[in-house]
Amino acid sequence: MSDSDTGAAGRSQGETAQLSAIELNVNDQVRRLEVDPRTSLLDALREHLRLSGTKKGCDHGQCGACTVLINGRRVNSCLTLAVMHEDDEIVTIEGLGHPDGLHPMQRAFVERDGFQCGYCTPGQICSAVGMIAEVEAGWPSHATADVTSTRIALTDEEIRERMSGNICRCAAYPNIVAAIRGIAVGDPE
Ligand code: FES
Ligand code: FES
Repeated sequence: MSDSDTGAAGRSQGETAQLSAIELNVNDQVRRLEVDPRTSLLDALREHLRLSGTKKGCDHGQCGACTVLINGRRVNSCLTLAVMHEDDEIVTIEGLGHPDGLHPMQRAFVERDGFQCGYCTPGQICSAVGMIAEVEAGWPSHATADVTSTRIALTDEEIRERMSGNICRCAAYPNIVAAIRGIAVGDPE
C-alpha cells in the first residue's frame, strides 16, 4: 500500500498513523474506507476511492478543479475533510452521468466545445450544476442588479460572476459560458 493510501505521507519516520474508519455515500454507493483524519475529501475520492474525475489543481481553494456536489451544493473538496461527510450525499463527475447517459450539463459542454485540455472541466460542470440550483433558489450574486428579486435572469455577466471560482488555464471561458447559457435559458445558438 502506498503512502497516499495510508495517509502516511508527510509524517516523520516512526510516527504511527491513527486511521479513522468511515463510510461515505458517493454517487449513490456506500463506500467504506480508512483514512488519516486529516485527509481531504479530494484525496479520499482520488487516492482511496480511485475516483480520479475530480481534479487537484491548487489544493488550496483557488482553482475550483476539485468541485463536487455535497447535498446538492458545490464544494471545493480540497478544503474539507473526508471525515466530516459521513452523513452527506456526495456526487462527483462520475456520478452526474456516464458516456451512454450524459447529464445535460455534460452534453452541453461537449456540444458547445466548452473545454480544451479538459483538466478543469469536471469541476466546471459540477460547479455549473450547483450554480444553476443556487439561481433557481433565488440566491443573488455580486452581479445581480435587484437582490430583492426571487427571479434572477442568468445573463452572461451572472454566469461569469457565479463561475469565477472555477479557473480554466486554457481560457475556454466563452464556450463554457455558452454551454451554461444553453442549459439555463435554452439559447438556440
Ligand atoms: S484543487 Fe481545490 S480549489 Fe484548486
Ligand atoms: S480546458 Fe484546460 S484548464 Fe480548462
